[in-house]
Amino acid sequence: MPALSDGNPAVRVHARRHPLRNLWRLHPYLRPYAAEFSWLLVAALAATAAGLAVPLVVQRVVDGPVARHDEAGLLRLGALALALGLAEAVLIFIRRWTQSSSSVGMEAAIRADIYAHLQRLPAGCHDRWQSGQLLSRITGDLSVIRRFLSFGLLFLVLNLVTYAAVVVLLIRLHPWLGLLVAASAVPLFLISRRFARHYHAASRRMQDQQGDVATLVEETALGLRTARAYGRGPELATRFSTGARALHDTGIGKARLLARTSALFDLVGNLTLGVVLVAGATAVARGGLTIGELVAFVSLQLMLIWPVQSLGWIIANGQEAATAADRIQEVLDTPPAIVDAPHARALDRAEVCGRLRFERVGFRYPGGAPVLREIELTVEPGETLALVGATGCGKSTLLSLVPRLHEVTTGRITLDGHDLRDLRLGSLRRLVGVAFEEPTLFSMSVWENLTLGRPEAGEDEVRAALALAQAEFAYDLPWGLATRVGEQGLSLSGGQRQRLALARAVLGRPALLVLDDPLSALDVHTEALVEAALRRVLRDTTALLVVHRPSTVALADRVALLDRGRIVAVGTHSALLAEVPAYRAVLSAEPDRRHDGAGLVRS
Ligand SMILES: Nc1ncnc2c1ncn2[C@@H]1O[C@H](COP(=O)(O)OP(=O)(O)O)[C@@H](O)[C@H]1O
Ligand SMILES: [Mg+2]
Repeated sequence: MPALSDGNPAVRVHARRHPLRNLWRLHPYLRPYAAEFSWLLVAALAATAAGLAVPLVVQRVVDGPVARHDEAGLLRLGALALALGLAEAVLIFIRRWTQSSSSVGMEAAIRADIYAHLQRLPAGCHDRWQSGQLLSRITGDLSVIRRFLSFGLLFLVLNLVTYAAVVVLLIRLHPWLGLLVAASAVPLFLISRRFARHYHAASRRMQDQQGDVATLVEETALGLRTARAYGRGPELATRFSTGARALHDTGIGKARLLARTSALFDLVGNLTLGVVLVAGATAVARGGLTIGELVAFVSLQLMLIWPVQSLGWIIANGQEAATAADRIQEVLDTPPAIVDAPHARALDRAEVCGRLRFERVGFRYPGGAPVLREIELTVEPGETLALVGATGCGKSTLLSLVPRLHEVTTGRITLDGHDLRDLRLGSLRRLVGVAFEEPTLFSMSVWENLTLGRPEAGEDEVRAALALAQAEFAYDLPWGLATRVGEQGLSLSGGQRQRLALARAVLGRPALLVLDDPLSALDVHTEALVEAALRRVLRDTTALLVVHRPSTVALADRVALLDRGRIVAVGTHSALLAEVPAYRAVLSAEPDRRHDGAGLVRS
């Protein structure tokens, strides 16, 4: 996991073609809810219309029945105003009711897509992205977008329509005063634009910082034991409080920006209102405007207060949604590098002999120097080949090419003559049983962890795999195989985790076994047992093992010596010992870790 940093430039700095472009690109998710959103808008607009009609009725009341002391007319118009008010209330209720369900459904749809996409991404991306960043994107950012689509966007449309409608009505009541109110839109627009620009930068910073804090919390939870053991608690706490403080400062900055801007909006609104009141009173005195018209004029203008006041909030919300959409699209835009070729076919376990060939294979990590060069290697059906080499020479990388976790850069790997890239990924990965250096267990039951790649596996197969890996301790766990192992299997010892991972790899008798140092964390006694058991599986499975200790090299039929990404010697253990000094050097330099116990940090 990459360390917490100011952020990964490769991930964060993105060309922004248009601030709202990425938000707009989410529109396909709205389509299923188009009908719902239209009803929403209709209800909202109708509510606004009912609201706008009330001041006009009041105008009639003041200039008609009130001026003429006409009680029947007063009742009639009063009833109309009441009905309009009721209609507005009902329509607003309908709007609120529909509002929530559609946006929540849309949020769920985007989230499901991101998650599915994350699973298709090449392993390299997950190395590059901090998990906390992903976490905050998949939770926080999506909620921001949902809030914008369900409230911000609606009110933006609604407020613009209200503004336009009020201005038209005002101009009809009194052209000059109406135009004055219309002109107040100019400063409002300028203030909004400036605000949007500043707010955008702040909200992106804040969202990235939220991701950093999430990463730190997650790392602390996972690395708690290591941190405690090294007495690094206080240092982690300092790092956390620095991150939290930065987040806090950005939050305050944002809030102050919003406060300042809202004050400006209020100022413009109130100044306009003041001018209208003075000018309107003068007009009434000169007989250019009736009292009823002035009342209507001022009431209508008061209806603009909320739209103007909420403008700052809506822009802020829109900016946050736009940056959230940027962050989400950054994930969705990362192409899944390793996918099925159009012509890819599936291979049945029964038709596979298991002849694995590396043909002039070269590999480099994106942006890195070549890690593997010109690898020529054949593992015959049923043969066990051990890979030996110094730390960092590319052993784990070589293994990861077999289940296609990374794609070869040059050359090709074949299984029974089929280029691996011509096989369906799903099919290939069912043929290959894998155990990595860090035996990852997910926070689910032992059974689910074991049958991860073969959910259809039966009781007998699981029992056989557990027996083979000397992992029968699993039956003695509090709830047997139903025991949920904690996050990353922390509640098990390193050796136990490794044996479960081994059982997972051999479950269902895969055609190819790829094991990265499968015995590293075992104690002497278990190691001997697992070794004996492994020898039985390896007899009829093609296997590629990374091995560190001389004692386990004995498992292999042949050994390949890897040096800085090249195969420098291949042969039997005894032949290499006798003839290749470099081989002797690597094996003797490799300390025999039998007595070190579990949990060593390895290459
Ligand atoms: N995900 C990665 N991205 C970039 N470089 C990597 C990655 N994983 C390993 N490397 C580099 O590739 C080289 C070989 O690593 P690895 O295959 O893990 O060696 P080994 O397993 O033999 O110790 C090392 O120099 C390592 O730094
Ligand atoms: Mg390794």
